[in-house]
Amino acid sequence: MARPSSLFPMSTGRDENGRLTIAGHSVANLAEQHGTPLYLYDATTLHEHASRLKNLLEQNYPGLSEVSYAAKAYFSLGFARKLAALGLGVDAVSLGEMRVAQKAGFRPGKIHLHGNNKSESELVEAIEQAIQAIVVDNLDELELLEELAGERQRRTPIWLRITPAVDVQTHPSWQTGGPHSKFGLAVQGGDAAEAIERAQSSRWLHLTGLHVHLGSQIFTAEPYRQALRSLADLAEKHRLTLKEISPGGGWGVPYTVDDADADPQAWIEGVSGVVREEFERRGWRLPRLVIEPGRWLAARAGVAVYTIGACKKAPDGSSLVAVDGGMADNPRPALYQARYTCVVAEKPGMAMSQRARIVGKACEAGDELIADTWLPDVERGEHLVIPMAGAYQLSMASNYNLSTRPEVLWVEKDRVEVLQRREHPEESGWWVES
Ligand SMILES: Cc1ncc(COP(=O)(O)O)c(C=O)c1O
Repeated sequence: MARPSSLFPMSTGRDENGRLTIAGHSVANLAEQHGTPLYLYDATTLHEHASRLKNLLEQNYPGLSEVSYAAKAYFSLGFARKLAALGLGVDAVSLGEMRVAQKAGFRPGKIHLHGNNKSESELVEAIEQAIQAIVVDNLDELELLEELAGERQRRTPIWLRITPAVDVQTHPSWQTGGPHSKFGLAVQGGDAAEAIERAQSSRWLHLTGLHVHLGSQIFTAEPYRQALRSLADLAEKHRLTLKEISPGGGWGVPYTVDDADADPQAWIEGVSGVVREEFERRGWRLPRLVIEPGRWLAARAGVAVYTIGACKKAPDGSSLVAVDGGMADNPRPALYQARYTCVVAEKPGMAMSQRARIVGKACEAGDELIADTWLPDVERGEHLVIPMAGAYQLSMASNYNLSTRPEVLWVEKDRVEVLQRREHPEESGWWVES
């Protein structure tokens, strides 16, 4: 089970008035100065988490390795620059993510491209930039890519995304390695074998690696080990020399104190160990081991800050506390009943006096950020802080009700930087004056 402190950024503290601080900055003051909803990313947490994974790989895996951040968790130019400076790679899934990665300073060799339905323009951009690898998802794409690379006479490195039918214990929306997955080339049924054979005889595609991603919020290494064994078996069967291998991302994080909190040591030891075993017993050279964490790197670094507005009783007697954001900036509770915890920035240490539902301001009954939580007495104008908000919130945000996306700040000691500016209605796509 998670400790309460492990849900908050590492630099979380209190000021002399007992108010919540991150990297020494009062969260309530930042909210007053920048407005809400406001997202804060803590530099210390991101640095520590990136170093932890890199160090674990270095300690456990004697071959080359890479931590490639899954940009879908949260990406913006400012944030990408921080990640590039940490020496990470990028797992991109769109033209937008590839362009941001380049602009932020990632070398093409540090970027690989995923997606189950990549557009021609995404594939062409990836070919022309000579990125690390295009991760081919299906036979149809393999054919298109061969054509596009041939037209440009560019020999293009690819990995194949394999679906090995390994089940993981997680929410059905996060399972991507099973037989119903829309992603990848299934081993069962023969698509994986056919793709390997076609890629091996291709003139323009250079098959350098195999990849698997089983899903998200996984807390044990065993499914990864099974999946990697299945990739090694495929490579052996097809006499394929693997320069790269990737078990994807998906290592889990806690969102409340009731959730499991597993150190990534088990993950990295597990994947490193099985790649070594499988390759060494066959007398093969160790491939570059590429992991693709999104949530584990970014979730804890981020908090969402809202202003408390209307407080009232629902007809069933439950207390409602409404905030000025909700499903537009964080669709996770509405999408898959994600659970969260919260504190009040002005009084994080005050005794809890009421049970409440934290609801958003969208015109949707399901716009509820926290279904049931304890709170101290609160007043309109105080600030509610939701931790573990750094992944899959803003990146899935919408403009529902023509709401505008929040501002995002990077906070470190003595320094606050805008990573993403607040959207304004006049700048949005719907504001067309014809
Ligand atoms: C191919 C791939 N790699 C990595 C990730 C990152 O997963 P997580 O954020 O759970 O680590 C995802 C997430 O959907 C993914 O689809």
